[in-house]
Amino acid sequence: MGEQQLKNLLNQMTVEEKVGQLVQLATPFFKGASDRGEITGPMVHMNIDEEDIKRTGSVLGASGAKETINIQKVHMEENRLGIPLLFMSDIVHGFKTIFPVPLAIGCSWDLDLAEKSASIAAREAAVAGVHVTFAPMVDLSREPRWGRVMEGTGEDTFLNSQFARSFVRGFQGDLENDPYKVASCVKHFAAYGAPEGGRDYNTVDMSEWQLRENYLPAYKAALDEGAQMVMTAFNILNGMPSTGNEPLMRGLLRDEWNFDGVLISDWGAVKELIPHGVAENEKQAAEKAMKAGVDIEMMTSCYVNHVEDLIEEGTLEENILDEAVLRILQLKQKLGLFDNPYRGASEKEEEAYILSPENRKASRELASKSMVLLKNEGTLPLQKDQKVALIGPFADNTDILGPWSWGGSAEDTVTVASGFSQYLNEDQLLTSAGCGIETGTNEQLEVALEKAAQAEAIVVALGEHSDMSGEAGCRADIRIPEVQLELLKQIKSLGKPVTAVLFNGRPLDLREVIENADAVIEAWYPGTEGGNALADILFGEVNPSAKLTMSMPYSVGQVPIYYNRYNTGRPKGAPDAQERYVSQYLDIPNEPLFPFGFGLSYTRFEYEGLTLSSKRIQQDESLTVSVKVTNTGDYAGEEIVQLYVRDLVGEVVRPLKELKHFEKVYLLPGEKKVVQFTLTEEQLRYYHANMEHKSDAGEFEVFVGSNSRDTKSERFRLDRK
Ligand code: IFM
Repeated sequence: MGEQQLKNLLNQMTVEEKVGQLVQLATPFFKGASDRGEITGPMVHMNIDEEDIKRTGSVLGASGAKETINIQKVHMEENRLGIPLLFMSDIVHGFKTIFPVPLAIGCSWDLDLAEKSASIAAREAAVAGVHVTFAPMVDLSREPRWGRVMEGTGEDTFLNSQFARSFVRGFQGDLENDPYKVASCVKHFAAYGAPEGGRDYNTVDMSEWQLRENYLPAYKAALDEGAQMVMTAFNILNGMPSTGNEPLMRGLLRDEWNFDGVLISDWGAVKELIPHGVAENEKQAAEKAMKAGVDIEMMTSCYVNHVEDLIEEGTLEENILDEAVLRILQLKQKLGLFDNPYRGASEKEEEAYILSPENRKASRELASKSMVLLKNEGTLPLQKDQKVALIGPFADNTDILGPWSWGGSAEDTVTVASGFSQYLNEDQLLTSAGCGIETGTNEQLEVALEKAAQAEAIVVALGEHSDMSGEAGCRADIRIPEVQLELLKQIKSLGKPVTAVLFNGRPLDLREVIENADAVIEAWYPGTEGGNALADILFGEVNPSAKLTMSMPYSVGQVPIYYNRYNTGRPKGAPDAQERYVSQYLDIPNEPLFPFGFGLSYTRFEYEGLTLSSKRIQQDESLTVSVKVTNTGDYAGEEIVQLYVRDLVGEVVRPLKELKHFEKVYLLPGEKKVVQFTLTEEQLRYYHANMEHKSDAGEFEVFVGSNSRDTKSERFRLDRK
């Protein structure tokens, strides 16, 4: 169907039919659905009848070829004009083969593997009948208390933007010609990752300068890569809920960025304009969201019950409705649904492709590249001939897929114990939970201590259960639950080498874990192959290479904490700083426990000979930065070499360091490599007070190193002609 045919179709539609396209309902509403599908919000009463459902434009959360084909078949028979349904779901970090959570993927700094993971997820979902994924979530966050930090790739604008592009490429690729791709819906527009106090759905208030400089670039990157849809955020932004925010949606997203794809509300967010206090009733909520440019209303019935009246009484122009409908029809057209409403759905392909050995292999590889080694006092890697006690609530637990993995299942998940069993004989492995995640008994503790006492090395697997993060999973105390810390301390008192492994979805205050373990590895939620990936690392088959993409705070009192902070007028540690009148805490350090970019390896990398190709560059010239990296340890390994820049004097303040480049190098023991980066004037631009994005002439400092703290530096000048 061409554009003209779509317009002809639009002309044949009644207002009711047009409004129907703007409605998205969860799976249980549809005939032909045999289960509830993915339910990700409150199932409140909706004023909707049989006829409305027949006119509906899209389905949330249905999957499985049989299911989606059934629903579509019934719908095609019942919809007067035979307009196919769009099937949308949250395929965030895998569909059935679950990959590590996005925060972990971020720590791999591996854009290609990230793309591959999204591409596998897309294909598994596409053969199960899904057309659109509500991903990637690119909300920058400096808030470990916020449950959804696990869903983004971290605190850095540049890195998040790169990952946003990789994910969109992987999910969406050549959507129009490849039935194994799904359309990508980037979310949550905008700045959902900065809720006050880290509490989900809470107020976001930030300057336009901060928004443009740090929070918007990743959404823009996803759109530049071609993401077809955008989802509104639940939060208010500077006083206005995003879902009714006309300046944000029509002004910035559509007019300034020229986004002409489909904008969908988050679950219930149109109706939530009422409790937000900006709409008196559902009718006004519908009016505001429509005027803001929200095309699809997810899971409330404000549009279906009021848009027609709003048009009839002249409050809303019909062309606003027509534009919204046309965008939805265009997306259906791009997906080829008018020619084949079932697109890639195929039970045969599901059988052949989902959870295939190749998909599992990719998940295992990405998981092992996402686990961050935080401490190692010679304990790791473990010897394969040792007797190992595997203790802790995550020792043999399938809850390692993480939030937003509703398609994954426990039966397909490799636990730590089963991963270990690939390296150890039965009589070498002693497993015991020791306690639950939040509670435990003396009996459990005693059994664990008894087993640990028989072993030569002890691994303690600790963490948060997956409901402790994700949507509405916020915590004010970001420590491992007390009962688990007590278990770790008791184990440590046995005087044997202890490795702590952590399964969680956010940066945590890990002081007590670090104090009570000889080695610590942050495994995040590693996905289906988590146990295997961890075993690969702990037994030395894979040398850890991941680096943190969020600072690990010293304590929750430092939050929000991020490496690219500003200096303040009274920086601590300045040569003339006094003891009292400086920007500091009296009771804790300013620095995080582990900085952004930090992660250890079984080998050591040394940096020397940082050189710049010139000490002065003109605006149209570039600068080559070189550094020699040598593997001085005993293991082959991969190092993520990071380059940061500081603009020493700006029109407005500039961060102490900003990531501009990184490169992964694989080096054998004793091997050296000169790593080169090219810096251009464009990378030195920033938002000025009048929102102009440009660079300033002047002095800059370049830092290169293995993390944002441990760097070497040189200076150069940028001149204007
Ligand atoms: O996509 C999600 C969103 O991120 C949070 N609320 C529900 C949506 C649909 O499942």
